[in-house]
Amino acid sequence: MSKIKIGVLISGSGSNLQSIIDNIENGKLDCKISYVIADRECYGLERAKKHNISAVLVDKKEYGKNLSDRINVILEEDKNKKPDYIILAGYLSILSESFINNWNRKIINIHPSLLPKFGGKGMYGMNVHRAVIEAKEKESGATVHFVDNGIDTGEIIMNVKVPVLEDDTPETLQKRILEKEHILMIEGIKKLLKI
Ligand code: GRF
Repeated sequence: MSKIKIGVLISGSGSNLQSIIDNIENGKLDCKISYVIADRECYGLERAKKHNISAVLVDKKEYGKNLSDRINVILEEDKNKKPDYIILAGYLSILSESFINNWNRKIINIHPSLLPKFGGKGMYGMNVHRAVIEAKEKESGATVHFVDNGIDTGEIIMNVKVPVLEDDTPETLQKRILEKEHILMIEGIKKLLKI
């Protein structure tokens, strides 16, 4: 039987992408990445290329409102490579409603907080960890969830909790959470793919 295919959308360093690549290569995750697509120049694209994965830049500055449509065309144009599922691994643009409807319950995202807390507009990257520390939360973490038409509002698949320490800065908290994200990402994909 042919392997389940995933498309991975990224915007940044791609450390979650790297976790997916590593787990596929060491046999712990049984699927194939057919595309890595980035909405901006980023290190994640280099990681994909190093592993001979189709790495495509669809620059949001160039495509603007048509960004999701362009990505959809790429994902669908070659029937042999069309992904079964889409993984948002640090992807920062908002996908259009038609894109999300087209891939209904086939897109998951990883978010660096315990959703529904610290999600929504503007809650990405270091903003999340800064808000968690300012709110004096005792714990934070990461969440894998289905993507719906809201921002970080889709059904939660699983999460991982991480303590917030007295002397944490946004940077130290981010680092501790990111290590756990790399594991959660894989567990979330396995659940999505039912493998
Ligand atoms: C992660 O914290 C992820 O939760 C968030 O963006 C960050 C991406 O990191 N959505 P990387 O690009 O996978 O290293």
